[in-house]
Amino acid sequence: MKRIVILISGRGSNMEAIVQRAAEQDWPAAVVAVLSNRPNAAGLRFAADRGIATRVVDHQSFARREDFDAALAEAIDAFDPDLVVLAGFMRVLGTAFVERYAGRLLNIHPSLLPAFPGLHTHRRALEAGCKLVGATVHLVTPTLDHGPIVAQSAVPVLAGDDEAALANRVLATEHVIYPLAVRWFVEDRLEVQGSIVRHRDGASQLLI
Ligand code: GRF
Repeated sequence: MKRIVILISGRGSNMEAIVQRAAEQDWPAAVVAVLSNRPNAAGLRFAADRGIATRVVDHQSFARREDFDAALAEAIDAFDPDLVVLAGFMRVLGTAFVERYAGRLLNIHPSLLPAFPGLHTHRRALEAGCKLVGATVHLVTPTLDHGPIVAQSAVPVLAGDDEAALANRVLATEHVIYPLAVRWFVEDRLEVQGSIVRHRDGASQLLI
């Protein structure tokens, strides 16, 4: 069984989706811990209620980012993970941290990368007049919101959409593509060639 550690900062709905799919389906993996940088992250309760270990590494206790990253890595490594999943984890991680988990660190970003890295993706997409938006699961590299793309979802922008409506439409697809991408990873179905990730069986990596 592969061991998955999930990092959250708040609501944790993507973490929930992964925990639920892993439990419902026959994954060769289990979510062994959920870690948060915020003590009051709502998702911690969900994980604890399901008997999953939870830990908090509060970034506010550290003056330097490298020290936070090191403490976080120590907390993660205690669970000996095969895969580390960032699910709404809202801290930028330094190069040393990212390189420590190279090839086994996934993130989900609520835009069709490489468009709109960073914050406020839905607002920026509306301002740009985009007609199609989405979410991206990618392997994490030291450059923020870059890294080989594992899966994407695309949804339309509808007349009258505001930021919240768009965020909800995209989030519903995140709950599909993130568990799928994690499952592919733990089942060794992904092949990374440079900056390109392919599904070994040729499965579609796009949800529309
Ligand atoms: C998601 O939209 C994710 O793409 C972004 O932050 C949000 C987290 O939501 N990085 P949740 O905590 O998984 O509910």
